[in-house]
Amino acid sequence: MDRNPWLQIPVADYEAHMSAVGQSAVLRDFFRRIYAELKPRRLAVLGCTSGSDLLDVDRAVTESVVGVDINPDYLASARERLGALGEIVRLIQADVLHVDLPPAQFDLVHAALLLEYVDPASLFQRIYGWLSPHGVCSVVTQDPTPGIPSVSNTTYASLQLLAGRMSLRSADEVARLALESGLESVNHETVTLPGGKCLVNSIFKKSRGGE
Ligand SMILES: C[S@@+](CC[C@H](N)C(=O)[O-])C[C@H]1O[C@@H](n2cnc3c(N)ncnc32)[C@H](O)[C@@H]1O
Repeated sequence: MDRNPWLQIPVADYEAHMSAVGQSAVLRDFFRRIYAELKPRRLAVLGCTSGSDLLDVDRAVTESVVGVDINPDYLASARERLGALGEIVRLIQADVLHVDLPPAQFDLVHAALLLEYVDPASLFQRIYGWLSPHGVCSVVTQDPTPGIPSVSNTTYASLQLLAGRMSLRSADEVARLALESGLESVNHETVTLPGGKCLVNSIFKKSRGGE
């Protein structure tokens, strides 16, 4: 059977690889800033891995947090790290294209480096349905860059399982797909990592008429 490569990458490899490439720091910074700006009462983080973004959640601001990931080991690690947040956090092991989340609830839905592994149009349609009327969607994507491998080379060989299994899309293409689901672009920001890889944080809200 064609197993999802994400089920075969140990959490320690993933975290060490992301840190070695400089991606973790950029991802944390994107999340911290959108979280501080929006102060979401209800938050969903899709493809939350071991919960690094959720460590920044403030109980005085946010009353409920949902983290979704397909890998149960990543969520076990997240559970250990997020104990202090207590009952406001719900971690769900599921495929984001099938998970059952409440409709029209979330002030912020954040999905960093997830669109590369799922059908983006289907995911945007689902996110549209989960957002509250004034909710905001924040996605981080890896821009296709000529000469830069989609998976950076590090000593963590398990990450190479992703090579050939991810689809990179430009920020314009991501914005077009979002718009087809009723999400209009508010802003986007690109950060280039030392090795040349480009990460884009795109922010969307429901387009008028979609509320
Ligand atoms: C590149 S990592 C995301 C990085 C993470 N958001 C961060 O900020 O560090 C991709 C994550 O998405 C999860 N994932 C991949 N496909 C998924 C799917 N169909 N449903 C849910 N989670 C998925 C993987 O298990 C992995 O944790």
